[in-house]
This record gives sequence, structure tokens and C-alpha cells, in this order.
Amino acid sequence: MSKPSEAELIHIFKGIPFTTRSSPELLNSLDTFDAREDDVLLVSYPKSGTHWLAGVITKLYTTQVTLTSPIEFGDISKLEELNKLSSKRIIPTHLDYNLLPPNFKNKKCKMIYISRNPKDTAVSMYYYYRDNPNLPTVDTWTAFFDLFIKGDVVCGSWFDHFLSWEEHQNDKNILFLFYEDMKKDLSKSVKKISTFLDLYVSDNDIQDICKKSSFSQMKSDTEKENSSPSSTVCSLTSNRKLIFRKGTVGDWKNHFTPKQNRRFEEVFNEKMKLSKMAKSLIYEF
Ligand code: A3P
Repeated sequence: MSKPSEAELIHIFKGIPFTTRSSPELLNSLDTFDAREDDVLLVSYPKSGTHWLAGVITKLYTTQVTLTSPIEFGDISKLEELNKLSSKRIIPTHLDYNLLPPNFKNKKCKMIYISRNPKDTAVSMYYYYRDNPNLPTVDTWTAFFDLFIKGDVVCGSWFDHFLSWEEHQNDKNILFLFYEDMKKDLSKSVKKISTFLDLYVSDNDIQDICKKSSFSQMKSDTEKENSSPSSTVCSLTSNRKLIFRKGTVGDWKNHFTPKQNRRFEEVFNEKMKLSKMAKSLIYEF
């Protein structure tokens, strides 16, 4: 069977490319979504460590919680399905802050924004695109690099996404985390998350959660699971190998040519010139 055309896979909503698995009707109705005060949003630009964070958060709760698929994924029936859930909802999203259902903001729901250095994010997303039949074909890293820089990829520009959330850096209900900090000292990040979520977790439990959240452990655990794309953080594939690929910091060095690196730095410096948070990004250890 031939691969669907780009127009069949991607549509633009409010200037941002979405896959056609996020129906325009659903996206249009997000503004009316009824959030609950105890919802927890797990926010990221794709390929920033969303599954990792979700793995940690779900292990922190001893009460029943439901990790849903991203709020923007599915058709119009999605919101109804979320409404029916009786347990506490952990809701992932890749939405830019401005597209987030206003109810989450008005109710001051807790949100955790995880970001990752954009060079590694770009490389991770390249492999995700390359091997995923639900995304447009990209033939080479060079071609993908250009698309990423222009923001011509699902969820739009990394720069715009990051900046839209950074504007809310001082909001008390939003915790900002970096993938690289989790890599460096996972237990420190887990403690930060548990404090933010008002969960008491013993040091022993934290150590246990860290062990179970290591790349190798999560990779082997999820490869054994039989999860459907509609109930996981990643809704565009059930191929776990696309999600747990390498899990390292600095893989960009194996992909970026010196010229690409210069171009990236130029665009980054221009777009992020007013960003304070961008100064905290780590590209290698
Ligand atoms: P790589 O492609 O660089 O390996 P997301 O969950 O947002 O889609 O992000 C996927 C990226 O997070 C992948 O990066 C994946 O390997 C990495 N990742 C997933 N679980 C991880 C873990 N437990 N530890 C470190 N990295 C992890």
C-alpha cells in the first residue's frame, strides 16, 4: 500500500502543522474543554522526554491515576471520553501555551513543562519521522534539518513552543524541567516533581522509581506492553522502538555538520535573544 500524501497526513490549525489524527473539530472545540482542578498536564515539544516524565509521574502516585493520550489527539469524541474518566487525569499535550484550553489556565491546574536541547530534539524527531508511516516522508537528515529550523514539522517551531511557555516561567502552577537535568541527576528531578505535586515519597521509593525509570528498564518494559496508541503518550505509533531510541545527551554531534551547526546557532541566537531559560540549555556533558 502506498504511503498517504502529505495533505492526508498533515493539516494546519492556527498556523501550526498537526497530523490529521488531531481532527480540526477536536482542535476547534478545545477552548470549551472542562478542566478539573486536580488535572495534571504534562507538556512538551515532541521528542523532549515526554514518555520518561510520564513514566516517573505515574510511579509517584499510590492512588489511581489515568495517563491519557495527548488532549489534542483524536476526533471530537475525545473530550467526551476524557470527561467520563472518574480517576485523576494526567494529560499530556504538545500544545503551544496559546492553544491550551483556557480552562486549564483559569483553574490553575498543575502543569509540568519538559524541554530538551533543540539539537538533540531535532535528531530524535528526524528518526521518528523517518520510521513513522503516520508522518510525511523525509529522505535525509539534511532535508529534515531544514524543516526543523523553519518549524515546518508537527507542532511547529521548537523556538516558538519554548518561548510561548517561557512567558509563564513565574506561574506557580507550572514546573519547568530539562531532560538533561533528569539525565544528570534523576533522583533530584524526581524529588522536585514530587514536591511540586504535593506527594510524599520516601528516599527509598525515589531510588526505586529512578531504577524503574532508567532508559534500559523503560525500553524493555514498554516493549513487553501491548498498549494501543490511543492510550499512550505517543499517539502516532505503537512501535516502541521509535520512542526509546538512544536516550542520550549530545547525539546531535553525530549528525550536525559544522555548517548546519553554524546555521542552527545563528537562528537560535536570533530567535532566543530575549530568552533567559534558553541559557540553561545543555548540549553535552
Ligand atoms: P532519542 O530519540 O534521542 O533516543 P518523547 O517521549 O518526548 O517522544 O521523547 C523521546 C526521547 O526521549 C527519545 O530520545 C527517547 O530515547 C528518550 N527517552 C525516553 N525514555 C527515556 C529514559 N528513560 N531515559 C532517557 N531518555 C529517554
